Amino acid sequence: MAPRKNFPEGFFWGVGHSAFQVEGSPRDSDWREWTHTKGKIADGTDAEKATDFWNRYEEDFVLARELGANCFRLSIAWERIEPEAGCYDEEALDHYIKIVASCRAHGLEPVVTLHHFALPLWLAREGGLCAEGFAERFGAYAGRVVARLMQSPTSVRWWMTFNEPLVMVNMGYLIAEWPPGLKSPALAMKAAKNLVRAHFQAVEKIRALGGDLQVSIAQHWRDFQPRRFWNPLDYAAAAYLNHVFNRNFVKALMTGRNSWWMPGARERLEILVLPQGRPTLDYLGINYYGRMIAVSTARAPFLTVEEGPGPKTDLGWEICAPSLVKVLKDASRFGLPLLISENGLADAADTKRGDFLRRHIEAASEAIALGANVIGYLHWSLTDNFEWAFGLTPRFGLVAYNYDTAKRRPRDSFNVYRQMIEDE
Ligand code: FCB
Repeated sequence: MAPRKNFPEGFFWGVGHSAFQVEGSPRDSDWREWTHTKGKIADGTDAEKATDFWNRYEEDFVLARELGANCFRLSIAWERIEPEAGCYDEEALDHYIKIVASCRAHGLEPVVTLHHFALPLWLAREGGLCAEGFAERFGAYAGRVVARLMQSPTSVRWWMTFNEPLVMVNMGYLIAEWPPGLKSPALAMKAAKNLVRAHFQAVEKIRALGGDLQVSIAQHWRDFQPRRFWNPLDYAAAAYLNHVFNRNFVKALMTGRNSWWMPGARERLEILVLPQGRPTLDYLGINYYGRMIAVSTARAPFLTVEEGPGPKTDLGWEICAPSLVKVLKDASRFGLPLLISENGLADAADTKRGDFLRRHIEAASEAIALGANVIGYLHWSLTDNFEWAFGLTPRFGLVAYNYDTAKRRPRDSFNVYRQMIEDE
């Protein structure tokens, strides 16, 4: 199945990754502490070395170029830039400038995420996402980084404040599988509200810098479907999840209406002032990994989710390309350009990735045909990397990484993607 050739001029074809997952030897962060706490990482590994991107970034940019990519999404480790409250490490920032300048020099448009899951440890100790000064602290850090990286030679134009804010809230404050390891609906709702505020603070600082900067978040967007279509409670569960998990955060960023509710917790509505009177998103990043089946339950929180019946990745996540069309159509309602900022799978044997790529890119093409303004597709990920609570075992890379020798070896699917990009 060849994808239709309706991708617009200047479409971003690329890959993405995040600092903590690839750089190695991170400074003290909540995630670093978590990986060193017994029993938290399924395979007992950590991210101390990861793929040594901090030193070997050039090798990865060369590979991305060979792939034919014109775009690369990466993130900045806050804990490197501000290792202690209010103390900024200029050397770390200079090193990022080297990395991102090299990205550009290889013909890759950088998309830079300011926060991708890990927090400086000092901030985690202050209460992390729920800390009193969290929003202001993030705004200050963001403003500082953007002020430097928007200048030549990096000239970064495409920014993301947060990666998957609600995944962080869910995993850290409801499911307890990520730091800070809590199960508290009240704190979860407080964290969500604080993340919205922090985004506003950052956008305020960024807009004050002038320049033609594009700011977004990467929103993990699932297609929640009721298990039994005829059951109104399953239906309500799916509708609630589509609202709270997919749309509510984006809606708050567009309108300034910041209110959070889940069974057992509620944060009162606050109305935030839109910086420069405009919605705080210039485009929207969509991280797409599949649909989820919603089921109502008798006890609080009165719903649960499960995987659909289709074929699975190595992590047991269902592969479901058709839902990407639906997600892009749904997300289009905000009227923003959409960047598919993540899409990929754990597939160590690389037997499914080629077909996965074809089907998902075909789905993106279909959504475009239906009117969605999709501006790019960034596959997750270029190389294998540290997959959070699962450790180093899952293999998400188009390029296999050998953790003993640091060798990078393109898998067959690398050529599938390369060919698809070339055919466009
Ligand atoms: C996303 C994360 C990313 C990676 C992929 C597999 O939720 O943003 O860091 O772990 O899943």
